[in-house]
This record gives sequence, C-alpha cells and structure tokens, in this order.
Amino acid sequence: MSFPEDRPPEAANTAEAALEELRRQNAELIEAVAARDTFIAVAAHELRNPMTPIVGQIDLLLAALQAGRYSSGQVEHRVRRIRRAMDHFIKRAGTLLDVSRITSGRFQLALAPCDLSDLVRETVETFTETARYSGCSFRIEVPESLPGAWDRLALEQILDNLISNAIKYAPSRPVTVSAEDFGSLVRLRVRDYGPGISAGDRARIFERFERAVGANERRSGFGVGLWVVGQLVAAMEGTIVVNDAQGGGSVFTVTLPRYSETNRS
Ligand SMILES: Nc1ncnc2c1ncn2[C@@H]1O[C@H](COP(=O)(O)OP(=O)(O)OP(=O)(O)O)[C@@H](O)[C@H]1O
Ligand SMILES: [Mg+2]
Repeated sequence: MSFPEDRPPEAANTAEAALEELRRQNAELIEAVAARDTFIAVAAHELRNPMTPIVGQIDLLLAALQAGRYSSGQVEHRVRRIRRAMDHFIKRAGTLLDVSRITSGRFQLALAPCDLSDLVRETVETFTETARYSGCSFRIEVPESLPGAWDRLALEQILDNLISNAIKYAPSRPVTVSAEDFGSLVRLRVRDYGPGISAGDRARIFERFERAVGANERRSGFGVGLWVVGQLVAAMEGTIVVNDAQGGGSVFTVTLPRYSETNRS
C-alpha cells in the first residue's frame, strides 16, 4: 500500500498495521465459516446413519402388530432393541458435539475409570447383526481386564468407526479387534483381510472428506469417519497409524496413554 509523501511515517505505519489486523480477522472468519460448514456435513452424516436401522425396526414392529403376529414378549424384545439403538444414537450425537468442541478449541475429555477389554467386547457385540449381514466374523484378542482412565464415549466412537470401516471395506472376511497392555500405554488394533490401502492413500484418508475408493464405488460414505477418529485420538494425546497387515488387509493401530496427564495425581 502507498501513502502520500507528506504523510508522517507513523501514520503510514498505523494504517498498515490496521490493514494487517483486518486481513488477519478476515482469514479467521473464512476459517470459522469453513469449520461450521464441515461440522454441518459431519453432523448430518453421523446422525443420519444410525436412524436407518431404527426406522426399519419400527416399521417391522408396526407391520407385525397390525398383523397381530407378536406376543407381548416379542413386542417387548423389539422395543428394547429400538431403545438400545436410540441410546447408541444419543451417544453418537454427544460425541459429535465433542468433535465440534475440538474444532473450536473447547473440547474437554471426560476421563473416568473404564475397562478397555470390556469396552472392546461390548462394542464388538453391537456389530453382531451388521457383521452377520456382511458375512464378517470377529476375533477378539484382549486381556481378561485392562483398566485405565479414558473418555469412554470417545473410545467407543473410535472403535465404532474402525470396525464399521473393516466390515464395509473387507466384507465376508474375519475382523480382529485387539487391545494390549504396555504399562503406561495401551494399544488398540483393528485388523481386516480386505484390499488394503495404498501408501499414497494412507496419508490422506485421515483428512476431512477424503475417500480412497474407485469411481464406481457403491459403498456410501462421506469420508469423515477417520477424520473424527484422528481428532479424538489427538485429543487423548495418542497416535493412530494404518499399515498393510501381514497376509493382506489393513491394520489400524491406536496407541493411547493409559492415564492421561490430567488424571495423574
Ligand atoms: N479398512 C479399510 N480398508 C480399506 N479402505 C479403507 C478402510 N478404512 C478406510 N478405508 C478408506 O479410507 C477412506 C476414508 O475412511 P472414512 O471412514 O474416513 O470414510 P468413509 O468410510 O468413506 O465414510 P464415513 O464418513 O461414512 O466413515 C474410505 O473411503 C476408504 O477408501
Ligand atoms: Mg468410514
């Protein structure tokens, strides 16, 4: 920017500084709008997916009730399943809000005593039906007990995304979910026997909206699942890597502190 020759140098400096400040604020606003747009896309995706099976189960229940086919025990069983699915949905919505807080720098982990082995077993259990439908079987390799302090919902969200990817991209094959104790660290692994991920794609799949699928890909996805996982792992001061698994397929390895700094007394 140029100024008339007779303007004192301090005035020119002040104007330049004000302009610089405006540019900085403008860049911040552009970033904030982009973050909001991303959040809306992530929210729509994360909230829409679990709704489909819930609506399906309600339709099934309605049809059976109209046809007078269900005993009160069967109705109760169905309603309980819908209730479980709703609980899962509410959890996902909660974690999504946490992700929004991460993006805006307001995220707080809710650390609480938790057993990682139990959590792996329980999360895998929630995939029983989806896995059966895709022809996948699970192998769980966890110690009897692996106690620590973590944000339980964040851990569930991480496992949820990695397991659903394994089922989606490596159907009709086994999926191994493991947890290992390394003292002050724990390691979570999800291993599949699918097509694997090329070295070039591995770097970008943790970015927002990045997918590594062919042009004719029919499996739906917004390319945000691994971004969510990466954000949560980073918030827990952990790391995540993906590698080729021996014998084919991919292995996602998450390493986390067992007790976070904030939890140590
Ligand atoms: N286990 C896997 N095997 C092969 N490719 C995978 C695997 N997991 C992820 N990918 C690749 O990484 C990409 C990004 O995964 P991500 O979970 O972020 O998105 P998505 O599965 O496409 O959509 P969504 O947001 O619904 O999870 C996928 O589109 C897929 O190409
Ligand atoms: Mg995914």
